[in-house]
This record gives sequence, structure tokens and C-alpha cells, in this order.
Amino acid sequence: MAVKRILYYPDEPLAVKAKPVASFGAKLERLVEDLFDTMRAYEGVGLAAPQVGVSKRVFVLQEPEGEPRCFINPEILEQEGGEEAEEGCLSMPRVYAQVPRATRLKVRAKDALGEEFEMEALDFLARIIQHECDHLDGILFPERLDIITRQEILQEWAQVREQLLAEVTEAKHAT
Ligand code: NI
Repeated sequence: MAVKRILYYPDEPLAVKAKPVASFGAKLERLVEDLFDTMRAYEGVGLAAPQVGVSKRVFVLQEPEGEPRCFINPEILEQEGGEEAEEGCLSMPRVYAQVPRATRLKVRAKDALGEEFEMEALDFLARIIQHECDHLDGILFPERLDIITRQEILQEWAQVREQLLAEVTEAKHAT
């Protein structure tokens, strides 16, 4: 089990477009395992490789009562509908906003062994997939908001980030 440190926005490579996975094998399987371990340790429902410093097009997800799933080189083929709901991100913890997302989509991806699959997703699952696909393009949820709300959220995040970094420093100095 390997729980990785999750990077905070705007650390690199969170804001850059991640590279497609070209080879499947033990190294990729280990990355996928680490993503699952880290997502569970942080009690998240999704986690993308750039969030642990790996600029590859890989993410994992698991809804509270759902199956664990891994997506390599995902492509959203179709999407429709629209709904706003509260969303957060492990790379911007403690900050939440109402984010508009499509309510139905079809996605094609490969699994950890390189097998291609297609699936349809609705509502919360569709929301997670859109959020994680955005991570692979260097996009975090504030970019999906109107400019006024985005600026408010980024200001709030700047303060929270300071607090979080101060807590880490305090913890390091504690005996
Ligand atoms: Ni996120």
C-alpha cells in the first residue's frame, strides 16, 4: 500500500495537459494501485494521476456504494444535460462550489491491463468522470465557474492553502 502526497493547486503538474499512456505493464499497475490507496486514504471519490505528480492520462474513481474503476486515456464521446451541484477537489480541500456539469455522458477508455471499454454514466458518476477528465487537461473546477465566482473561490482557496501549509509546518515541528 502506498499513499502518495496530494498536490495542492497550483503546484505542477496540476495545470498542464497530461500525456497519454503509451505502455501498459507493472509500472502502470503500481500507479493505479497507488491512486486507489491514496483516494481511499483521503476519502475521495476520484483521483487523477497529476494530483500525485504524475502527468499521465490516468484516473480512478469509486462512488460510496459503487465499483472501483480505472480509466486510462479516457475520451468523452458524448454528453448532454446540465445540472449544478456542489463539488470539491482533493487538490483544493475545504473549498466547495456549485459546478455545472452534464448529467449524462458516454466515455471510452482503457483499463489498467490495456483493454478498451465504453460506458455510459449518469448524474454523480458522470460528474466525477467530467471532473477527473478535466484534471487530465490541467483544468480544476473553478475554471468551470463564472468569472466572479471563480475569483471568489480562488481567493478563498489562497487563504485555505496558507492555513494548510502552516498546519503541515506545525506538524513537522511537533515532537
Ligand atoms: Ni479534483
